[in-house]
Amino acid sequence: MKLMAGNSNLPLARAIAEYLDIPLTDASVRRFADEEIFIEIHENIRGEDLFLLQSTSYPANDHLMELLIGIDACRRASAKRITAVVPYFGYARQDRKPGPRTPISAKLVANLITEAGADRVLSVDLHAGQIQGFFDIPTDNLYAAPLMAADIKARYNGADLMVVSPDVGGVVRARALAKRLDNAPLAIVDKRRERPGESEVMNIIGDVRGRSCILADDIIDSGGTLCNAAQALMDAGAKSVAAYITHGVLTGGAVARVDKSALTELVITDTIMPTDAARDSSRIRFLTAAELIGEAVRRIADESSVSSLFD
Ligand code: R5P
Repeated sequence: MKLMAGNSNLPLARAIAEYLDIPLTDASVRRFADEEIFIEIHENIRGEDLFLLQSTSYPANDHLMELLIGIDACRRASAKRITAVVPYFGYARQDRKPGPRTPISAKLVANLITEAGADRVLSVDLHAGQIQGFFDIPTDNLYAAPLMAADIKARYNGADLMVVSPDVGGVVRARALAKRLDNAPLAIVDKRRERPGESEVMNIIGDVRGRSCILADDIIDSGGTLCNAAQALMDAGAKSVAAYITHGVLTGGAVARVDKSALTELVITDTIMPTDAARDSSRIRFLTAAELIGEAVRRIADESSVSSLFD
């Protein structure tokens, strides 16, 4: 078994390698003057069960191309089986046609990964579970909920907890977390624009008064969804609001927005390598997904159950 990594998240790759007690495969990624990517594997991988780790995070297109070229290099070097380990699967939000004459880019990316030569895919909290069906190769989708639940249990007095989905689309994910918190009650932030041109109204479904609210979502990008939801919850009488999010995309002024928000804390995993700004923020804390991913890799290599990780 071999673990190789692209450049998107080397600290996570090293932590997974440490968990598995194997070295990272010796490979280099170089760029030609015109930014073409060139990958070279400096050791024999013939016949190996190879895991290639790369999140397609910012810069998404460079990291995606690195993943595809890395898979091609492994296939041509005769690896026996190639698993694309993509902790953050970018383009996932483009999983349907939002209007006429638009692409379904998540499906295109799934096709590209498969065509490049991946035999399996391993990801964490895919934006929509059905993205697994975009691949015609086995796909394991891991959940960060157990990591988050353990952290929440260690920090909060369970009695007044309330898990909140920041939008209607995230209810299933929020409910899964609530279930792990001894069936904590659930609330939903329902954003509605009553009429075109009017500003969005936040309706809270559920009584959050006096509650320690935990907003749960898969992605924080600009931070708009989360920070607005946090304010709406405080306005509705919540005692406090923290957020647990799997993928910290955190583009533009997201970190500054979080720092100024009503959130007491934003907890994110390291599926995407944290930026310096995120690390420096006193409001942002990280949970590592290294053991979760490492254990799933070990089980795939051993042909043992991955789903039982979540029993
Ligand atoms: C949307 O469906 C996702 O689950 C997130 O809520 C969204 O991507 C967050 O984006 P932003 O932080 O830019 O509001």
